[in-house]
Amino acid sequence: MKALRTPADLRQALESLGRGPIIGFVPTMGAFHDGHVALFRAARQECDVVVASVFVNPSQFSDPADFAAYPRDRSRDEGVAAASGIDLLFVPSVDDMYPPGHATWVDVQGPARGLESDFRPGHFRGVATICAKLFDIVRPDVVFLGQKDAQQVAVIKQLVRDLNLDLAIRVIPTVRAADGLALSSRNVGLSADDRTRALALPRALAAGQAAYLEGRDVVAAARAELAGLEIDYVAVADFEGQPTLAIAARVGATRLIDNVPLEASREPHETPAGDRVVSSKESGHDQQAAFRRT
Ligand code: PAF
Repeated sequence: MKALRTPADLRQALESLGRGPIIGFVPTMGAFHDGHVALFRAARQECDVVVASVFVNPSQFSDPADFAAYPRDRSRDEGVAAASGIDLLFVPSVDDMYPPGHATWVDVQGPARGLESDFRPGHFRGVATICAKLFDIVRPDVVFLGQKDAQQVAVIKQLVRDLNLDLAIRVIPTVRAADGLALSSRNVGLSADDRTRALALPRALAAGQAAYLEGRDVVAAARAELAGLEIDYVAVADFEGQPTLAIAARVGATRLIDNVPLEASREPHETPAGDRVVSSKESGHDQQAAFRRT
């Protein structure tokens, strides 16, 4: 595995491979866990060359203290990436991605409205901008994203469609610990007590799923499990026609998000949304994130 810092170095490494290989790309902010490894494995299985990026993107943090506190462990990440079969690890600096004078932003509407945007203003502008830049540098055939960030997935799919980017998106199901907590780089901020309290999130998703199947109020059922946590939102969002129960809540100092696609629980034989293959060539859906929140 080669670690490369500048966009020019990465481009040179990719160009030396010629035009043939299928390039898979996993954009990340590092602090790898098994959720990232699942993305790497999926990319390794499908693609000839796998590129991952590690870049803690300042423009997607509305709170500078949150940016400063975001976990970073470069040498461990390099070890995990190498062991997971990554060929090229792109590790740019902030100046490499936002050189002095940088003045272009990508502002997705539609699915970027509401939910995370209500609590993290400018977040998706930062995500869309960095993804557009990374996709232009890597020029991947296939991009691998995690279902855990369902709204982010919807925003990136919208970006890919609207900018006519010639790449396919694979959405990989959320990886959970044995007790159900979704793996997240932010989980390192949870104390032992917080970790136990955080299990209310997967319980709330399960309660919401059960309510959906029984025709009860999904949001009320989920909320009932979250007593004692500081809730940012509990909502049923519509991502490309897939109703998805999405939750954001604070446990101690850590803000966690999680979600479950509801239709996948109703029709277990249908390919779950988490596995759905959506290429830039598919179009026609209004990807407005219509949602109901309390
Ligand atoms: O999900 C993440 O890790 C980030 O939001 C992403 C997609 C790498 C953009 O910085």
